[in-house]
Amino acid sequence: MTPASSRDDLHRFANRPIAVLFSGGDAPGMNAFLRAITRFGLNLYNVPVLGVLNGYRGLVSAAAQADADLEGLKALTEKWTGRWGLVNDRKPQHLVFMDHPSVSGIVGDGGIILGSARCLEFKKPEVRAKVIEVLGKLGVRALIVVGGDGSLAGAKCLSEESNLRIVGVPATIDNDLEFSEMAIGVDTAVSTLVWAVDHFKDTARSHRRVMVLETMGAKSGELARLAAIASGAEVVIVPNEGEPLTEQGMQILAASIEVGFDAGRSHTIVLIAEGVTFEPEVMGHDTHSKRNRAYVLADAFKDYFTRPGGRYADLEIRPSVLGHLQRGGHTSPQDCILSARFAEAAIHEAMKEDGRNGVTALVNGEIEIVPFGAPPLERTAKRVRDYLRLHRALSSWTPVGNE
Ligand code: F6P
Repeated sequence: MTPASSRDDLHRFANRPIAVLFSGGDAPGMNAFLRAITRFGLNLYNVPVLGVLNGYRGLVSAAAQADADLEGLKALTEKWTGRWGLVNDRKPQHLVFMDHPSVSGIVGDGGIILGSARCLEFKKPEVRAKVIEVLGKLGVRALIVVGGDGSLAGAKCLSEESNLRIVGVPATIDNDLEFSEMAIGVDTAVSTLVWAVDHFKDTARSHRRVMVLETMGAKSGELARLAAIASGAEVVIVPNEGEPLTEQGMQILAASIEVGFDAGRSHTIVLIAEGVTFEPEVMGHDTHSKRNRAYVLADAFKDYFTRPGGRYADLEIRPSVLGHLQRGGHTSPQDCILSARFAEAAIHEAMKEDGRNGVTALVNGEIEIVPFGAPPLERTAKRVRDYLRLHRALSSWTPVGNE
């Protein structure tokens, strides 16, 4: 692959652009990544950077457009570039050439200016085949896909089904991509959770309450674990290798809270990850129940504390679901730095003559390109145990023993 030799603003497609898309749930740091990849593309390689609006959905729509009128699609994309391509939603534009002004001032902004989406249609091989055909016709030399597990699964399919250079980049607040120590967005989401817990702590202390807060994280407990250590939340409940939480398990947790109050605690903050499941009995055998975990757990705690002879029958329990606020807000410096490091690795791999398809990963603090479908890092399992041990030793007010 040769870098574009000269800048020709009117014929960006002819200069074989690098395309970039953001898919799945947005993560803070995506804008920092877009800025970095745009600047690296333009400044280091003088190669056009083609932003895809709204993730895979944008690619599918662009493919449909190209099917009808390939030259029309090219002309529209060459005409409305940078900010103009981003702002005018009325024109049917799905691809935008990025320039310096279009990524100016966005480094710390949450969300993603190109838009992100979940696109179930992209799971169909025939839909991907159309997309591959169009990317080829447009002269795209590489596609960079930024997102979580579903988005990278789509990128892996493209990598297997085409001759395109495909580079994935982990970005998800869930931190459930176990081939990398860290994904873009995690650090900011943890900070946001610490901020939220601090607010709940103020009111919990004043009323001597138990606050049960539900965090995001899909099936992973990583976000809740990290937030518990950083915020001082007294209890953290995460998915336990698919084992559902039982009535008895919840009573044991409530009993540990009771012991904390006996020891003089003024309040208790409980974090429960959204991936936690309950045994069917807890849900009254309603397997389709949409009740949030925080509410189910709070009810179980209430039952425990109001049992006959209970010492804290008046204790108030308040549940809250923290939801999407965890995905927004100003990006942390750590996430901005990780985004820049991933972008640098991605652009080099995309432009290298003998580059490989794969995903950027943080391994031992260094950035590497690992193959799509790479196995979990061996230390991921250890890290999970370490964090839980740390939290136990930090949060207890009674001796827990030195494991
Ligand atoms: O994967 C990121 C994530 O925020 C998960 O933690 C959560 O389960 C999911 O996305 C929420 O998805 P949506 O934004 O589609 O509701």
